[in-house]
Amino acid sequence: MSVIDTSVVTAQSFEEWRQITRLLLADGTPPHEVQWQAQSNDGDLFGGEQPIKNRDRSVPAMHVSKELLNMLELAACYRADDRWSFLYRVVWRWQGGDRTVISPADEDGQRLHAMVKTVRREVHKMNAFLRFRERAAELGAPQFVAWFEPLHDVLPRVSRHFAKRMGYASWLIATPEATAVWDGSTLLQGPPSATGPLEVDDEGERLWLAYYRSTFNPARLNVSAMEMHMPVRYWKNMPEGKLIPGLISHAAAGAQRIAQTAAVGERVGTTVHVTAEAAQPERALPTSLDQCRRCDLWRHATQVVEGIGPQQARVMLVGEQPGDQEDIAGKPFVGPAGQLLDRALRAAGLDRDSLYITNAVKHFKWEPRGKRRLHKTPAQLEIDACMFWLEHEIDLVQPDIIVALGSTALKALLKTSKVNLTHMFGQEISHGAQRIIATYHPSYVLRVPGDEEKSAAFAEMVRAFSHAKNVTTS
Ligand code: URA
Repeated sequence: MSVIDTSVVTAQSFEEWRQITRLLLADGTPPHEVQWQAQSNDGDLFGGEQPIKNRDRSVPAMHVSKELLNMLELAACYRADDRWSFLYRVVWRWQGGDRTVISPADEDGQRLHAMVKTVRREVHKMNAFLRFRERAAELGAPQFVAWFEPLHDVLPRVSRHFAKRMGYASWLIATPEATAVWDGSTLLQGPPSATGPLEVDDEGERLWLAYYRSTFNPARLNVSAMEMHMPVRYWKNMPEGKLIPGLISHAAAGAQRIAQTAAVGERVGTTVHVTAEAAQPERALPTSLDQCRRCDLWRHATQVVEGIGPQQARVMLVGEQPGDQEDIAGKPFVGPAGQLLDRALRAAGLDRDSLYITNAVKHFKWEPRGKRRLHKTPAQLEIDACMFWLEHEIDLVQPDIIVALGSTALKALLKTSKVNLTHMFGQEISHGAQRIIATYHPSYVLRVPGDEEKSAAFAEMVRAFSHAKNVTTS
């Protein structure tokens, strides 16, 4: 007899679901015989007691790959009434030997990938847009408090992130579903907060708002890019959120001409040499790429050239930096290198529109030669400065594989200046969570003298693209 009453099975956390699932699998209970109930609102996000009748029974192991386990854990944070039954079906199929269940070509696999992606994005947004407010010192009370309304159950993940990041400082994060408290050494959970959003009006808050107002540059404002990076729904719980609509409408009214164009763009004074990284306050995210001042390249470029392509893209291409034509068009790979790239993609059977295409450096670096602007290789400092944006794009898109076009892209992705591009050919590189394959930059293929060398370099590119395609279909 099953130790689980399959007519009403409920789990309040991933750990609990996992334990129940192991028992159900051991009993050979098919998904259609289990009535999983939706997680209740007062669910224990951090894990809790299991409603298993016979606790003495040892729980058999659940044999799934590390990749699937990781995906299940993330997907379990996705708020959907049928999340537990869906995850059980996935595991059931996997245990039965059906590996297509994690393929995006499979209906369940597609849903699983979508859930994972959505949860990852929510974790990223909560990490980025959660704002702690310092409280007056009070014995036993946390030093910092924050309120956030996540769309999915990501509080446990996010609180682990802040526990590492904030060291001994104590804090409390309240959400409508649960509360996380860090006392400087232990992470604790609490019931949902009854207080709701924080109303703070103190000196610290006023200083922050004054700082935000003074660094908001209306001359470089790109509202849609800003809303893409910091969606409007987050504004209401961010102190600066209440300033943004006013600042945007001022910008639209032309206030930028008097306000900041000159002040921000062309400040004069003593030059202090610091690295781009050190120059960034740790928590300040520039609100859009268009306003980026992490290095000096923006001064001589026509515009920033952002990455392009669907956020669901499974393959990401990373080039070096925009060229002369890209700088004018505002899009990557539209010039001669782009045309060669298109040919290589076609030869590998990849559809350009399905890819996310970007560059390691987002502004055109050039030097004048007569009337022409000649491409100049970006310096390591500029590659490092732009890394912030590349990482952000990788985080958003989460491609299955990244193709590094040339050594600048590879250096940026591997975060080292010591790479030998040609030694990396033909082998996939694992770097953290990323899978990378390196190949020539299309400009090299255009430039290399000799027909044989050209065809060999072109074939090498096609090989790398075919590898990327295989990754997405495997
Ligand atoms: N070369 C690159 O690396 N990127 C472009 O967008 C164009 C040319």
